[in-house]
Amino acid sequence: MQTKRIIVGVSGASGMPVAVHLLEALRTFPEWETHLILSKGAERTLRHETDLTPDALRALADFSHDPEDTGAAVASGTFRTEGMIVVPCSMKSLAGIACGYADNLLLRAADVCLKERRTLVLAARETPLHAGQLANMRRLALMGAVIMPLMLSFYSRPRTLEDMTRHMAGKILDVFGLEIPGFARWGGGE
Ligand SMILES: Cc1cc2nc3c(=O)[nH]c(=O)nc-3n(C[C@H](O)[C@H](O)[C@H](O)COP(=O)(O)O)c2cc1C
Repeated sequence: MQTKRIIVGVSGASGMPVAVHLLEALRTFPEWETHLILSKGAERTLRHETDLTPDALRALADFSHDPEDTGAAVASGTFRTEGMIVVPCSMKSLAGIACGYADNLLLRAADVCLKERRTLVLAARETPLHAGQLANMRRLALMGAVIMPLMLSFYSRPRTLEDMTRHMAGKILDVFGLEIPGFARWGGGE
């Protein structure tokens, strides 16, 4: 079984339950090795939005990296990965990635994915958005990143927040060809 590596960056935007669901889902794919980078901002948001401690979130990943350690393995393009997900992606981290301002490990790892032409999914979260934030997203889309804002969808008839969260995590993992149980696909029809 060939191990595949994926980097999960969690930054300080709202949306921690999606990050938790996504990390839990990744654990069900044993051939995928997860590398988590939890920003300082994310630790604070995590406390606001869930009952999990940062250590409990870190325990969901195979490897957890200090966001200040820009010398970690994932900071180098020679460390092969399938790509990176930033979920949720704050406007600050999005701006840093858009400009190549790689002053922490999350930003550096995303920068590496762009330069190595690897898949980079940014689950951006803010509302409303100003022109600078929209320009950063456009810039990133032109650089090859997948901009996947955390957005509500109703066509799968979600009944609970858990349903909505699973659907969003499923959309993100679908980019990497990973399908999680209960992910509702549209099959056409009226
Ligand atoms: C409860 C809470 C919710 C936040 N939600 C958002 C958000 O949805 N989007 C955003 O861009 N920033 C949000 N922020 C602000 C970021 O956490 C802040 O800009 C932080 O510096 C981001 O740094 P990081 O990207 O390195 O984690 C929130 C902060 C808190 C405390």
